[in-house]
Amino acid sequence: MTRPKVTERVGRISTSPSAVASQRARELRAEGHDMLALSAGEPDFQTPPHVIEAAHRAMLDGQTKYTSISGTPELKTAIQEKFRRENGLAYETDEIIVSTGAKQVIYNAVMATVEKGDEVIIPAPYWISYEQIVQLVNGTAKVVPCSGDVGFKLSAEALEGAITPQTRLLMINTPSNPSGAVYTEGNLKELAEVLRKHPQIWILTDDIYEHIVFDGRKAATMAVVAPDLKDRTITVNGVSKAYSMTGFRIGFAGAPKALTSQMVKVQSQSTSGTSSVGQAAALAALTGPQDFIETCRRAYQDRRDLIVSMLNQTTGITCRTPEGAFYAFPDCAGLMGTTTPAGKRIETDQDLVMHLMDDHGVALVHGAAYGMSPNFRVSFAASMEELEEAGRRIQTAANALVKD
Ligand SMILES: Cc1ncc(COP(=O)(O)O)c(C=O)c1O
Repeated sequence: MTRPKVTERVGRISTSPSAVASQRARELRAEGHDMLALSAGEPDFQTPPHVIEAAHRAMLDGQTKYTSISGTPELKTAIQEKFRRENGLAYETDEIIVSTGAKQVIYNAVMATVEKGDEVIIPAPYWISYEQIVQLVNGTAKVVPCSGDVGFKLSAEALEGAITPQTRLLMINTPSNPSGAVYTEGNLKELAEVLRKHPQIWILTDDIYEHIVFDGRKAATMAVVAPDLKDRTITVNGVSKAYSMTGFRIGFAGAPKALTSQMVKVQSQSTSGTSSVGQAAALAALTGPQDFIETCRRAYQDRRDLIVSMLNQTTGITCRTPEGAFYAFPDCAGLMGTTTPAGKRIETDQDLVMHLMDDHGVALVHGAAYGMSPNFRVSFAASMEELEEAGRRIQTAANALVKD
């Protein structure tokens, strides 16, 4: 029987594995299981009260209608000021777009720069959506493995080796989800040297975790490090992670005017722009007191220290110390080829993550979902108590696995 079809394009992609893992954790919890969810990519802090008040006030003041597609003038001015104050970057307001989360900014950017036959360089491990969005627009993701041995960072040589005449876009994420790697100014300068030789390549830098950096580091960004490449660079950021505002769905970017106007066109035919209330809240976040950011950063650093030390005391696991973001990405090669006490085989990182979820009540995401195995991602946006208990459960599970 003939049925209406779905496109091959959509058939190729899948729902975010971290969302799937978090959903499964919620279901198991609802069934009464004692479940620690370290799978979600969102801060566990309450959104600052003044941000919530601003959203409430905006609604009472009648800010409940469509806004201009690229964002409200007030918010775009605040973003312009944020780029100037925090990054030393000058953007005109028509070089700024506000979207439904950083994710939609990235989607708009890829939609406007990549088409069939174009290649996009994505260093692995990567945030899964990069690869999936490239697939959605019929581009080709050229994944470049960057193991823990090279600090999970793309080197100039690896970049040079991956570039072809078809390369249209490079996607960099610093601090990185899932590895926690932070590119130094020097790292970016080396990449810039290569990119100068290839003027056909756009550079998308996803700086959404820029404020979550440890041990005195400061996040660097391409348009600052290589000002001559600013007219080829899309600087993506947002309020989701810095201000614990994931549900408000506000992200933004600074990019050359000619590209921004194309991204705005994509947005005009997809969402018509983001929520008026969310934009009022983001305005309060960017223009209000900023101490929340430092309070969270310190808490993340303490949590990182705890979970990384526990992971490194676990049989078969080694964990690099993340330099930023709120994820650890341990290597679990030492636990592959083992058997659980119930007789289940652990051959892949997915087998391990399923075992930890089903038999030990810890929800994590397997490394293959981020293009690198055998690893798993631990989100340490959780309380010290939860992290300590999760660390203990992982240790217990690892100790009980029997090697052939
Ligand atoms: C690297 C990276 N970029 C972008 C996003 C999306 O941010 P938003 O919630 O603002 O869409 C995330 C969220 O997990 C992320 O990890």
